[in-house]
Amino acid sequence: MSYKGIEIAASVMCMDWLCIGEQLSTLKQLKIDYLHFDIMDGVFVPTLSIGPLVVNQIRENTTILCDYHIMVEEPRRIFEQYTAEEGSYFSIHYEACRNLHRDLVMLRKLNFRPGLVLNPATTLENIEYVIEEVDKITIMMVNPGYVGQKLVPQTLDKVRKLREWRDRVKYQLKIAVDGNVSFDNIPKMIAAGADTLVVGTSGLFIKGYSLKESYQQLQAAIDEGLTMKENCAN
Ligand code: DX5
Ligand code: ZN
Repeated sequence: MSYKGIEIAASVMCMDWLCIGEQLSTLKQLKIDYLHFDIMDGVFVPTLSIGPLVVNQIRENTTILCDYHIMVEEPRRIFEQYTAEEGSYFSIHYEACRNLHRDLVMLRKLNFRPGLVLNPATTLENIEYVIEEVDKITIMMVNPGYVGQKLVPQTLDKVRKLREWRDRVKYQLKIAVDGNVSFDNIPKMIAAGADTLVVGTSGLFIKGYSLKESYQQLQAAIDEGLTMKENCAN
């Protein structure tokens, strides 16, 4: 269930893997909207993360919806490795697909909600002819591949422009931000127009804090962002 209209996706890669069962039940109690799975191939991004074996085991042990973030070159090759439960998102990178339109249409056919992710260097003009095919656009606020990086500040302007574009053409799509979604950055991200937050080591899984403590701070940062946004509108 979203918090004041803002949806929250918890980055599985940033969880405490030694206490994953316990953390999954706390995330359920906190009513986190999605489990965000960062799938990496060591080619599109230099690192590797988890694959279907681990993902499916986690899925069998929770009812939280999935939000796949696929950092894989030519991702069409792996679509069928994941199960599309109703409501789950499957987001692929603009930069990784040779036939982006075909791939997005295919995701819808497979019953996923198609999503598109843009790296910091990718402009919005690139997606003009596919925007109608997607249910969510994720703006990477850092270059993908690693946790714990610093925000690329120009990306905030991209969120603002995407929000203006969406409001102008009235598309029903979510605007997500991923990377360094921290308590300091969340208010600016929400004021810029984000309505979905991917939270990892900066905004939820923070050393020395329990998940419940971090979640309270996260809610406070969202409140601050919504007030900033309202003040901008007036
Ligand atoms: C970055 C990943 C993010 C990451 C965000 O490539 O896509 O999902 O886990 O976490 P932090 O807060 O560490 O930037
Ligand atoms: Zn991600």
